[in-house]
Amino acid sequence: MIKVAITGINGRMGAMICDTVLDQPDMKLVAGFDLVVDKQVGKITVSSISDIDKVLRKTKPNVLIDFTIAAACVQNVKAAASAGVDVVVGTTGFDELQQSAMKADIEAGRIRAIISPNYSVGVQVFLKLLREASKNLGGCDIEIIEAHHNKKKDAPSGTALKAADVIASTLTGEKPKYVYGREGTAPRSGGEIGIHAVRGGDIVGDHTVLFACDGERIEIKHQAHSRQAFASGAVKAARWLVSQKPGIYSMDDMFR
Ligand SMILES: NC(=O)c1ccc[n+]([C@@H]2O[C@H](COP(=O)([O-])OP(=O)(O)OC[C@H]3O[C@@H](n4cnc5c(N)ncnc54)[C@H](O)[C@@H]3O)[C@@H](O)[C@H]2O)c1
Repeated sequence: MIKVAITGINGRMGAMICDTVLDQPDMKLVAGFDLVVDKQVGKITVSSISDIDKVLRKTKPNVLIDFTIAAACVQNVKAAASAGVDVVVGTTGFDELQQSAMKADIEAGRIRAIISPNYSVGVQVFLKLLREASKNLGGCDIEIIEAHHNKKKDAPSGTALKAADVIASTLTGEKPKYVYGREGTAPRSGGEIGIHAVRGGDIVGDHTVLFACDGERIEIKHQAHSRQAFASGAVKAARWLVSQKPGIYSMDDMFR
């Protein structure tokens, strides 16, 4: 039985992951944390995040799934690493300092961690298609357009940045510059990837990569219709993670 804890359990993603975990015959929800507490979910009562050290030591989960906000996630990963609990990081919007702090804590705790800005299986295929397209369309103008609901805090999305990194690592020559939106006099230069964030309504998550060439263009697009795509992927990732060696993994490793 895989014992699971969830941070951000009251959130849009956290609540869906909670329901998905409760449906798994080989998983048991042993702890849930958020800012507003005392709600009963399954057989547990949501705990205050300020009690995370105490509750992790008492309930001994194998894995903690975190979908919160970047600053909170870094603290939650630190607590998990010091309690020897593996982590599935779904939170996005980290700056470089936060990323390196999180990685250092994971390594110091010798735990297993999977970090992905997008747990949908479809997005992994989308990223593979981008790699393939970039090999042949490197000379074209490349623009990434993402759209999300109006409550999303970080922009551009972690997936849009991941798509840009995948493209940049496939292109030959100098690393392209990322240009975030355009305003005023802003002519396009050759070596750039434009990244644009649209926010509105209840859009779950759309990502389009446009390869615009002379006389033709290709668009590669992924659209998530439901958060269940991310929740199911995060739960699969938790199951996969607990049988790996200590270290930091991405969704690519899961699909090798
Ligand atoms: N990796 C993926 O596949 C994927 C998919 C969707 C969303 N996300 C990311 O997941 C994160 C959460 O998204 P959401 O739509 O569920 O947001 P949300 O605002 O609905 O939920 C976040 C939850 O975290 C809680 N929280 C905030 N600070 C906390 C703390 N210190 N400790 C514990 N809980 C805390 C909030 O109270 C809230 O309940 C965002 O970073 C989002 O970009 C990732």
